Amino acid sequence: MNEILSQSEAGVLTLTFHRVERKNSINVAMYDALATAIERAVDDAATRVLLIQGHETVFSAGNDIEDFLRNPPAGKDSPVFRFLRGIATFPKPLLAAVCGPAVGVGTTLLFHCDLVYAGDNAAFSVPFVNLGLCPEAASSLLLPQIFGYHRAAEALLLGEPFMAEAALEVGLVNRVLPPTECNAFAQQQARKLAAKPLSSLITTKQLMKGAQQEAVLRRMDEEGAHFRRMLGEPAAREAMTAFMEKRKPDFSAC
Ligand code: COA
Repeated sequence: MNEILSQSEAGVLTLTFHRVERKNSINVAMYDALATAIERAVDDAATRVLLIQGHETVFSAGNDIEDFLRNPPAGKDSPVFRFLRGIATFPKPLLAAVCGPAVGVGTTLLFHCDLVYAGDNAAFSVPFVNLGLCPEAASSLLLPQIFGYHRAAEALLLGEPFMAEAALEVGLVNRVLPPTECNAFAQQQARKLAAKPLSSLITTKQLMKGAQQEAVLRRMDEEGAHFRRMLGEPAAREAMTAFMEKRKPDFSAC
């Protein structure tokens, strides 16, 4: 079954997480499908705008923990890092519609989006520390910029969820809507953008984001090296095994 749905209409390429029974957690095959679609969309004239969305009950539970333990990302060209580089460097407008839980990369991918619409049930979290890991997707750089240092430290060190209204207040989200309307509203905004002159959109985005791009990519590489190392260490093993065994992790030896 295709767990990433892809639909192209009116200049908008919509990629939909389609694995609700596993809370849209993302496995290697899904990262590969996302990365490939995004890489193709860069030069595809039929794609003027990219929209990433989930289901009205769940955006994404982040990395598929079981799959991550079985197939840890091996290097900079692994599907997860191709996906992250793809969204960080995507030159055209990138939108997201988020309802329900958005865990880990489900939240950090939003830092690379230009417009984010959230259902009022959206619950964002970046619980990398709770998993014995460290931030990814340049979130250690971007989250303090968006939230201010102390709120970022709270989100990243405690790893507790924050809700749609809080995300709206800090500016991570453009608008909060009823979950049943969120994907349709984001689609409508995406189509509005798709009708505008693409060269102006690309140049405007480049002017807003270009100065920081190198630092973002450098931070992603730096985080990626730590992340890959930490995946094999006792804290991450304990956290992920505990998740699969549906028990609390015991970090007393970590
Ligand atoms: N990886 C693998 N499986 C996952 C998953 C993940 N990230 N998130 C959820 N699942 C699985 C659950 O194990 C469960 O499987 P089961 O039906 O065999 O028991 C199923 O999806 C439903 O999840 P459940 O936890 O029962 O749903 P919920 O509505 O109570 O909670 C979440 C939803 C997203 C809050 C919760 O699933 C969660 O915290 N997931 C882990 C998030 C995480 O730590 N991600 C890694 C970030 S790097």
